[in-house]
Amino acid sequence: MLYARIANLYFTIQSENRVKKICFHIQKGGVGKTTISCTVAWGLARRGCRVVLLDCDPQANTTSWVCTKQFRYDFTDIFRGRSIDEVSVPINDNLSLIPVFSIDGELKNWSETRLAESPRAFEFLLDDLSKMGFDYAILDCSPSFSLLEKAIVCASDEVINPLSPEFFSVDGIEIFSNILQGLERNNRRKIKNDKIVLNMLNKSFATHRAFSESLQQLNYHIVTIPQDRKLAECQGAQKSIWEYDPKARCIPAFEQLIDLITGEHDGE
Ligand SMILES: Nc1ncnc2c1ncn2[C@@H]1O[C@H](COP(=O)(O)OP(=O)(O)OP(=O)(O)O)[C@@H](O)[C@H]1O
Ligand SMILES: [Mg+2]
Repeated sequence: MLYARIANLYFTIQSENRVKKICFHIQKGGVGKTTISCTVAWGLARRGCRVVLLDCDPQANTTSWVCTKQFRYDFTDIFRGRSIDEVSVPINDNLSLIPVFSIDGELKNWSETRLAESPRAFEFLLDDLSKMGFDYAILDCSPSFSLLEKAIVCASDEVINPLSPEFFSVDGIEIFSNILQGLERNNRRKIKNDKIVLNMLNKSFATHRAFSESLQQLNYHIVTIPQDRKLAECQGAQKSIWEYDPKARCIPAFEQLIDLITGEHDGE
């Protein structure tokens, strides 16, 4: 009897801590945060993982790409008392989306006026998603480091930084790393940050090659995604890259990134 209770308690703790929360973020715009978040979420779901994709950017690019259905509620409605089931949109058998409205969306307004009163709102939301049995929560952020992005980063297990191959990106990574260290100190917790996704690399450009080489000096795992117009096309078609063109040349790089993510999660 006692053994059964302990086993049950162990199972509950295990299942509540199950979801791995990965945020794709850097304060720089247009580097591929949305492209990479959504593609990784789709890729994990293709491998049989249960994934929830959270559109944390009031621009709603993730929602516009992934969601082909009408939806009634916005991300912010969860913080106002709606259930996750009411707000989330099933995309396929393994993938759900928590969407935002691009027009008259409330996420920005809510974060500016109410987030300070409930700084753990994202942490609680992610705990609830964990209890629902998701394996991964993938969070796509805005190109900024306001209170909203700080709350999201603090609620995540890991932040992966997408970068474009340009000189200023190194400054971007230093600025990010400084802010992250401050957040870790203030919150007394470690947030994993050891991966950079070097996106839109074109090896025929000498500047891209030089930048890629200089990144190798940094103490990060670097995954390189090539420039591939198919990525922009599949967004317009509201499809994943695998649905749009299973032979697209960027796919092996995404598979490599997903291997890295799943390999670590399985090994933990
Ligand atoms: N590897 C790639 N090859 C070609 N085009 C790409 C690639 N990755 C992203 N893009 C294109 O670059 C543009 C910016 O990408 P994306 O919207 O993902 O960046 P972002 O960092 O999310 O931007 P924002 O900061 O505005 O949220 C999009 O038009 C996208 O289609
Ligand atoms: Mg984006």
